[in-house]
Amino acid sequence: MSRALARSQRPSPVAVPAPLPYGMHVVDEDDIAAVVAALRSNLLAQGPRVAAFEDAFAETIGAVDAVACSCGTAALHLALAGLDVGPGDTCIVPAITFVATATAARFLDAEVVFCDVDPESGLATPATVERAVERAGSVKAVLPVHLAGRVCDVPGIVAAAPGAAIVEDSCHALGSIDRLGLHVGACTDAAAATFSFHPVKTIASGEGGMVAVQDRALAKRLRRLRNHGVTREAQEMTLGASFSAPGRPNPWSYEQLELGFNYRMNEMEAALGLSQLGKLNAFVTRRRALSARYDRLLAPLVRTTTVPAGQTPAPHLYTVLIDFPAAGMERADVMRALADKGVGTQVHYIPVYRQPYFRDRYGDMRLPGAEAYYARVLSLPLFPAMADEDVERVVEALVEVLWG
Ligand SMILES: Cc1ncc(COP(=O)(O)O)c(C=O)c1O
Repeated sequence: MSRALARSQRPSPVAVPAPLPYGMHVVDEDDIAAVVAALRSNLLAQGPRVAAFEDAFAETIGAVDAVACSCGTAALHLALAGLDVGPGDTCIVPAITFVATATAARFLDAEVVFCDVDPESGLATPATVERAVERAGSVKAVLPVHLAGRVCDVPGIVAAAPGAAIVEDSCHALGSIDRLGLHVGACTDAAAATFSFHPVKTIASGEGGMVAVQDRALAKRLRRLRNHGVTREAQEMTLGASFSAPGRPNPWSYEQLELGFNYRMNEMEAALGLSQLGKLNAFVTRRRALSARYDRLLAPLVRTTTVPAGQTPAPHLYTVLIDFPAAGMERADVMRALADKGVGTQVHYIPVYRQPYFRDRYGDMRLPGAEAYYARVLSLPLFPAMADEDVERVVEALVEVLWG
């Protein structure tokens, strides 16, 4: 296939930097125009574009409501706060995730019990969650992470942790379809699902996040929590001084009902997010095609990560599992040699319990599935602006470095 044809298959033209990064955004002229229009409007902080982004997002994934916020970490914090997670509570978090999943529980003074993951998919499973529940005793919330876009068995995890609220960390999985044919975030089994719009994610808003929910009352609480815990609604205010007559609040009145945060999304972020959401299908289609190309080229050579049966992931990362000792190389040297050949790679993730903060709190621990996954995993470049030839170039570079 000619390079010109392959380039034309991509959703939009962007300058792909060298070395090829492991992930990056695709922003086109429509996106830029949307942000400029927001900048020309008379509202820059949270306004109508945020509401429009929330509505479109909820509709896209089939959630009842969606609450935008400043980043994926804020989305996790809000979701747990809205479910009244607090001191004395325990949250189960998979060991293989970004630190944000676990730190959100700690923001609320809840304790974290790390659960193991399947060594081939990197996902928490009903069996690993069940073992963590045995260690934890009572559990307030479980946060399954749909790693790299692969979807956890959420109904199985619900059964493994009876009574616990489920918050799906879906930051990698916008556009993924579960084995029931539903979008991740539809929340049929979960209280909430959280998303990130960091530039390496499936859609970008600069920084940004979203909490998808089934329950409108929870959505209302999250909107209040993202804005300092403050209300301006007459029926929620209780101070006599807030009213000039019964049922008639003063024009300036507001009451802080609980401790909240400033986690608002601004209009420029929402404009970009909304514009990008319109391209979600194109982005996901291209990510799937690039991943399938990697699969075809790499399957005879290295182990690709396992996708549980019946689902259709929207791949956020393209991950392979390499037996580095068998290849006679350290992973760090493989990554450096690939970088010298213009190929950026990354490791998702160091088991979170190894981080000094969590090691100091919970002691030195190792979970076998997480360690086996971590020892082998490598993320190769994957983003919609890549050409087919870029995949071939990455595979050739990997082969040369490992066996050349
Ligand atoms: C699995 C996971 N959870 C949470 C986050 C936090 O998202 P953000 O960077 O938008 O705060 C990330 C971002 O990298 C992530 O990958």
